[in-house]
Amino acid sequence: MPNAILVINGPNLNLLGTREPEIYGRTTLDDVKAATTAQAKARGLAADFRQSNDEGELVEWIQDARASAAGIIINAGAYTHTSVAILDALQACGKPVIEVHLSNIYKRESFRHHSYVSPAATGVICGLGAQGYVLAVDAMADLLSKVKT
Ligand code: DQA
Repeated sequence: MPNAILVINGPNLNLLGTREPEIYGRTTLDDVKAATTAQAKARGLAADFRQSNDEGELVEWIQDARASAAGIIINAGAYTHTSVAILDALQACGKPVIEVHLSNIYKRESFRHHSYVSPAATGVICGLGAQGYVLAVDAMADLLSKVKT
């Protein structure tokens, strides 16, 4: 599926809209999904937008992307800061990866300053809220068009 991109959201992102709105805003994950899939469509891509609280499930989705997706956009939530398993899966996948965070993780607690996802990522977008996902789709579309030529 050359035009399919997998958009993965990790733990607690299902609570967006009500979870710490002073940090994450009032936008729900459904709103983020709508904006992401619309932008993907505008760029000729099909976004498969998912969320899980389960680290193993996230790893399985990344493994499956080897066959089913051209690239991965990932907000791994708190697993960003803990999961070598997600890093290994992303590195094994060999597809372009863009890491997204709604909040600016570098402005927050020091344990959020380290990301296990970043070594596998082509680029990182953080601190721009839901707009970060839209920008990530644009960046992915550009990356994939370069891969093709
Ligand atoms: C987050 C930042 C993480 O530190 C946090 O654990 C999250 C959300 C973000 O989108 O800003 O769950 O990834």
